[in-house]
Amino acid sequence: MNLMERFRRQFAFNWGVGTIEFGAGKVAQLGPIAKAMKARNLLVVTDKAIAKTDILGKVEDSLKGAKVSYTVFGEVEPNPLDTIVEKGAAIARETKAGAIVGLGGGSSIDTAKGISVIATNPGSIRDFQITSPADFLKMKIHPLPLIAIPTTSGTGTEGNFWAIVTHTEKWNKMAIGGPPQYPGGPCIAAKVSINDPQLTVTLPPFQTASTGLDAFAHHYDSYTANLATPISDAISEYSMKLIRNFLPIAYTNGKDLEAREMMMLASLLGGISFANSDCSAVHCLGEALGGLYGNPPRPVVAHGLACSLFMPWVMEFNCLTDPVKHANVARFLGEDVSGLTLNVAAHRCVDGVKRLIRSVGLPTSLEAVGVKKEDLPAVAERATWNVSVDSNPRPVNLDIFLDLLNKAYKGW
Ligand SMILES: [Fe+2]
Repeated sequence: MNLMERFRRQFAFNWGVGTIEFGAGKVAQLGPIAKAMKARNLLVVTDKAIAKTDILGKVEDSLKGAKVSYTVFGEVEPNPLDTIVEKGAAIARETKAGAIVGLGGGSSIDTAKGISVIATNPGSIRDFQITSPADFLKMKIHPLPLIAIPTTSGTGTEGNFWAIVTHTEKWNKMAIGGPPQYPGGPCIAAKVSINDPQLTVTLPPFQTASTGLDAFAHHYDSYTANLATPISDAISEYSMKLIRNFLPIAYTNGKDLEAREMMMLASLLGGISFANSDCSAVHCLGEALGGLYGNPPRPVVAHGLACSLFMPWVMEFNCLTDPVKHANVARFLGEDVSGLTLNVAAHRCVDGVKRLIRSVGLPTSLEAVGVKKEDLPAVAERATWNVSVDSNPRPVNLDIFLDLLNKAYKGW
């Protein structure tokens, strides 16, 4: 079936975020924006590393300049924990926060989203886990308004209505959020996203690489997912080319503002794209690994790195199920597929993504990042719990996930 034959003529598409303020220096607009929103007692949610940088200083200067009161909650951990969400929500209620600012990478913004939900809705954050579309109705009350300020280019969470939070008893990642159930209905998407690429120029090479591969994984997953739409396809086709062209530059020369701008754009667009078409097997596995290997005592495997470790194997598994799209992915990754049969061209996406991963120096096996072989069955089981399992273009199950994990363990 070619692309035109399967064009989805009926679909819904949610532009997740209210307003996007994009551009170098835009963070200075936070104060005036908060003032215009009539938001008082902002809770600025961030992590310890950002709290020590001049990025927090820029945020505070803007808020002080506009005479907007705020409190800083700087306790976010990587792979955000439900316990930190609960703690932040207690502070939000105590300080009568009128809005939440999520400042940092995906962990800070997702923690901020979780706080915004349970600051206004009764219950714990675990009560809002989404395991089926029926769960979209769990959130009855509008969350606190959110202003998202990403400081990495990967998560895209500033552009959508999803948050991923770790359940600290099951050590599994929960999906929180979902599209509004009626126009104007409760939704955790940011009211404003301030995408200031200047905030990413000091991001170290490893984090640049890892988050950049997360952004690529969002577009790959979204583009090949069963629920892909013409709009998400167009967004992801454009963005995969951006990442292939600009991630190696941002990795090599972090101060290249154009590369940082293009990566921040591709990341934001990833969040918008997958919010509508879903993620698929790369993220089922990546989130499952992050549940177990997201926090000590096990070695911490960054989310983007986890996705990167699985992507070649998932592409290889999926490519002949949808050779048209995978041949396109190969082209977007710079592979010359002219003259090849469709199936051979489709398979070349694996070579393309390996070249991209190699160009930014990321590890290529689970073994190399400290994952224990005996944990693979537990990771496979968690992957089957993921809300996106049915979105993968080729059916997956426990045995298939375990096979993909064993391949990724040995690596390439
Ligand atoms: Fe991701």
